[in-house]
Amino acid sequence: MVVLLHNLRVTVFGIGCLLMVDAVFPASVDPTTGSNSGALWPERITRVWGQQPVQAPHTLHRSPLFARNRLADLIEHYPREHYSIIHMSAQGDDPADASDVGSHARLWSEGDISNLSGEAILQAIEAGRFWLNLRYTDRVDAQFRELQDEIVAELRQRLPATEQISNPSLGVLISSPKAQVYYHCDLPNQSLWQISGSKTVYVYPNIAPFLSGEDLEKIAIFELEVDLAYEPWFDEYAVKFDFQPGQMLHWPLNAPHRVENHDCLNISVTTEYWTRKALLNQRLNMANGTLRYKLGMTPRSRRTVGPSFFVKSAVQALLSRTGWLDEVRTSNKPLEFALNGDSSD
Ligand SMILES: [Fe+2]
Repeated sequence: MVVLLHNLRVTVFGIGCLLMVDAVFPASVDPTTGSNSGALWPERITRVWGQQPVQAPHTLHRSPLFARNRLADLIEHYPREHYSIIHMSAQGDDPADASDVGSHARLWSEGDISNLSGEAILQAIEAGRFWLNLRYTDRVDAQFRELQDEIVAELRQRLPATEQISNPSLGVLISSPKAQVYYHCDLPNQSLWQISGSKTVYVYPNIAPFLSGEDLEKIAIFELEVDLAYEPWFDEYAVKFDFQPGQMLHWPLNAPHRVENHDCLNISVTTEYWTRKALLNQRLNMANGTLRYKLGMTPRSRRTVGPSFFVKSAVQALLSRTGWLDEVRTSNKPLEFALNGDSSD
């Protein structure tokens, strides 16, 4: 009976979802001919996609999927293994060097939502300094899967066939007024979509000294994306976006970025996908990281072709069966707090 009711609910909502948005990316229509000119996605976005940070308009912020009661329901039933809730320090408390473990070391602790209702969790986020990351909504909720399918379909219409999109996923980020995400990078290709609230997003070059091969290895092995060294002068070389609802950002693979929320609750969507280039880089990061952190070696090559890449990959594949990766990752991720409704920083 429960299964039947659930299926009925999915079906009813599924019909509504088809009416959710006309298209993910709006286009300007010529009033005389009625033809779609595509002017809101100019050709230059396609040409620099993946090479430079780009911004494009979208319509997701008008979707009922992101209505407050809909999000509260999503949060309340979210599987534990697919979310993170992070508590961080105030903007301006960020140390110049992430390796600084002195009195001003950055606060980035992971917690648990406990048994609060979805609405109570939203209120706690509004009152505190938290970042709730609902990962893989496409696997958890059929409507979010539909949304992801639509996004991927529209991206494929706009991007060249060489940008082969595989293993996409869609997350929802709900974060507090004035919350921040420290300087970090992600391993897959990433886009950020603003739904409500506003924030400043800084995107940095994906090359040294902003990012090194060793940084990428460390992230791949330990899954600690916010452990990159940052210096304030990096900002002089960042592209800075005043990020508002209806805007989407996409940046080059692995480009470091950081985010400062304005004084309002922020709801954003993150989409990620893999390309052949990203997958090869990930194999390389895992292989070099295994040599460095498991075998104590110092890998020098970042080539993703040739015999040395093949041998490193084989060594990594063999050692991954010993369970050492699970051990180092688990030991690096303690749960440090539980959200109890009155956690206001
Ligand atoms: Fe990120």
